Amino acid sequence: MKIETKAVHSGDRKPDPDKPGAFIPVTTPIYTASTYIYESTAHLDRVLGREEPGYCYSRYDNPTNAALEELVTSLENGHSALACSSGMNAIHIALLAALTDRRKSIVAASALYGATTSLMTKVLEPLGIEINFVDICDLEAIRQKIADSKPGCVFMESISNPLLRVGDMDRIAEITRAAGAALVVDNTFATPLLLRPLEHGAHMLVHSLTKFLGGHGDVLGGIIIADQEHSETIRSLARTIGPVLGPFESYLTIRGIKTFALRMERHCSNACRVATWLSSHPGVARVHYLADPAHPDAAVIQRLFPDGLYGAIVTFELKNGTKEEMFRFMDSLKLVVRATSLGDVHSTVLYPAIASHREVAPKQRERMGIHDGLVRLCVGIEAVDDIIADLEQALA
Ligand SMILES: Cc1ncc(COP(=O)(O)O)c(C=O)c1O
Repeated sequence: MKIETKAVHSGDRKPDPDKPGAFIPVTTPIYTASTYIYESTAHLDRVLGREEPGYCYSRYDNPTNAALEELVTSLENGHSALACSSGMNAIHIALLAALTDRRKSIVAASALYGATTSLMTKVLEPLGIEINFVDICDLEAIRQKIADSKPGCVFMESISNPLLRVGDMDRIAEITRAAGAALVVDNTFATPLLLRPLEHGAHMLVHSLTKFLGGHGDVLGGIIIADQEHSETIRSLARTIGPVLGPFESYLTIRGIKTFALRMERHCSNACRVATWLSSHPGVARVHYLADPAHPDAAVIQRLFPDGLYGAIVTFELKNGTKEEMFRFMDSLKLVVRATSLGDVHSTVLYPAIASHREVAPKQRERMGIHDGLVRLCVGIEAVDDIIADLEQALA
């Protein structure tokens, strides 16, 4: 089935194995029970021993979460998935799974969502895990860094936040696999409509469900999708650590995903129009967008992304944009929402220096190319003319 069809149907309509012939809900209900009983203790024993499928305790699994996990597994063509309470939680568990039975060393892209960088440097490094950063768009540097540091895991974003760089995932996966390491990809910005990392050689990928998959700004969640090799490790880590997503959030996410392909198409076509408009605005110094033929990674983008689907994020820099001027521009927006998230139906704008990259030292931010004049726009699904009109009056 095509991804648009899977988004609507996968995961739902599971008959109750204990009640053959009973009604089947068309969409998956919210199971709030924390624990489950069976007619005999012998049956519960088999379920607890995982000799038979079934549910016994919601930290292990839950029917609403199982539907979400099956749905996203099918969208990403994975082997299994684990729904987590946030995107950060999913990244943390995925990294632990990658490092289980491997050298406790990570090579990570130097351009990452700020909290992910902090997870590496403020949580994992102090625990003794070696962290090395590398320019994920420089294959020679990656090869060298992997040869030097012999990592157990390589971590990258499929589209980097906020400068929208795209590494050559096929080649990076080849190099990573040849070194015996696991490639973990944050696919939040791309979504499975644009790119499916497991098809390009990744071992695991994560999404912040909070973004395009949930899509409505009303739920926080994350998910790990794994290949066969890492599925059992992830499940076993989850049973012990307990990163579980609540069933209500799971239900909201399933509901959001049903329309995600439709929304993404509109996000992408709107973003393309906005990027083109911004490029010709006299107050704008630079626009970062994947459809730009002059994008530094244009050749890789053309190979990895479907025609016309280049994501919702447009990052741009205002001419001589000081922090004060940027605040004034953002405060002048009337339709576009000033908010720290992205991927919602409404357009959102964020100033990376005070939000996603707040924890990054100013000098390091400058080195990363996150200048004071930089703003990240996530183009929503409103009428594009209204979005452009709002940007125009705020820039004026
Ligand atoms: C690319 C990316 N990955 C991960 C996250 C973390 O997700 P969450 O806020 O759901 O923990 C974010 C949040 O903004 C993000 O932008």
